[in-house]
Amino acid sequence: VITLELAGRRGRSRIIIGERLANLGRYSGGGRPGVIVTDRNVHRLYAGSFPPWPVVVIQPGEENKTLRTVSGIYREFLRLNVDRQQMVVGVGGGVVCDAAGFAASTYLRGLEFGFVATTLLAQVDAALGGKNGVNLHGYKNLVGTFSQPRFVISDLAMLRTLPEREVRCGLAEVIKAAAIADRRLFDFLEKNADSCLSLERAAVEYAVERSCRVKVGIVGRDEHERGERRKLNFGHTLGHALERTSRLSHGEAVAVGMAAAARLSVKRCGLSREEEGRLTGLLKRAGLPVVMKTPPGPLRGALTQDKKRKAGRIRFVLLQKLGRAVVEEVGPEEVIEAADDLR
Ligand SMILES: NC(=O)c1ccc[n+]([C@@H]2O[C@H](COP(=O)([O-])OP(=O)(O)OC[C@H]3O[C@@H](n4cnc5c(N)ncnc54)[C@H](O)[C@@H]3O)[C@@H](O)[C@H]2O)c1
Repeated sequence: VITLELAGRRGRSRIIIGERLANLGRYSGGGRPGVIVTDRNVHRLYAGSFPPWPVVVIQPGEENKTLRTVSGIYREFLRLNVDRQQMVVGVGGGVVCDAAGFAASTYLRGLEFGFVATTLLAQVDAALGGKNGVNLHGYKNLVGTFSQPRFVISDLAMLRTLPEREVRCGLAEVIKAAAIADRRLFDFLEKNADSCLSLERAAVEYAVERSCRVKVGIVGRDEHERGERRKLNFGHTLGHALERTSRLSHGEAVAVGMAAAARLSVKRCGLSREEEGRLTGLLKRAGLPVVMKTPPGPLRGALTQDKKRKAGRIRFVLLQKLGRAVVEEVGPEEVIEAADDLR
């Protein structure tokens, strides 16, 4: 078991990699039973390993990451008489963590909460860092809170039941972490992409740990995303636009977004063509798309609506080299052009 600590402004968050779901009972805080929020799929597979705590089950899927679902969670908390001394634990992927974290950090003006992250994407990204949000009117994560989970348990054995597509999507975020801040992880992934995809324990543990270290480091320096934390959005500006306008999943859309950002990085920040090729090569080896299929019209519409846009310009994450990212303001046209280059 590997433990990392993230010091947030209002408390510490412990990230415990390799701990088992079956030991969750030890983390309730003060020995009182907590309350679990999970989705239907995770419940079906893992309810047998839950501690004997009340469970709130939500519908799975991004389309359910809404205020309506949160409202359903509040209703269950009310029915269960959840109080301030009780710990809420989200057991699931990014959707569960976001919805449970948001519900917990707003119910009774904020309850303590923790996560058992059950997808690779949640283990390396979504469960860490204290951003909890849900979608509104088609915009991703438009309403939310900054509030750190007390703990994030990453039970690596639970990844075995993930559909392969979800493993690839998680790997997209691992590649992102490597590309922006960890060249050694990048080298490792080039050599071990297949071992990661087939979930070999040692390879996955290393990839999860290194990715978590990247995120913990960045969030520790910039919890509220005033500067450096924006680097974690590498591939995401275009990725979110693609998610809205295509049938790509989050990780797949981010992969195409990273390929386009790398192309723009060659033009603007001196990323070498060789390193651009290494990034797209690794994405392809991980079974991720790097070709743009969304037509320019809808893409432009979605891009110029991005909530992180500032006065017509887009804050865009670019690479100077593998392992070093910078944030620059670029015009939407430059982004569209880089996307067009991938057609
Ligand atoms: N808050 C943040 O900082 C942050 C960061 C990155 C991503 N996110 C969010 O995370 C979400 C994506 O997360 P995700 O990819 O984990 O998606 P998800 O939560 O939808 O999970 C993917 C699918 O896998 C199923 N599942 C979960 N664990 C399983 C397991 N162990 N075995 C079998 N099936 C399992 C789920 O039921 C779901 O159908 C997006 O909404 C994204 O916005 C949030």
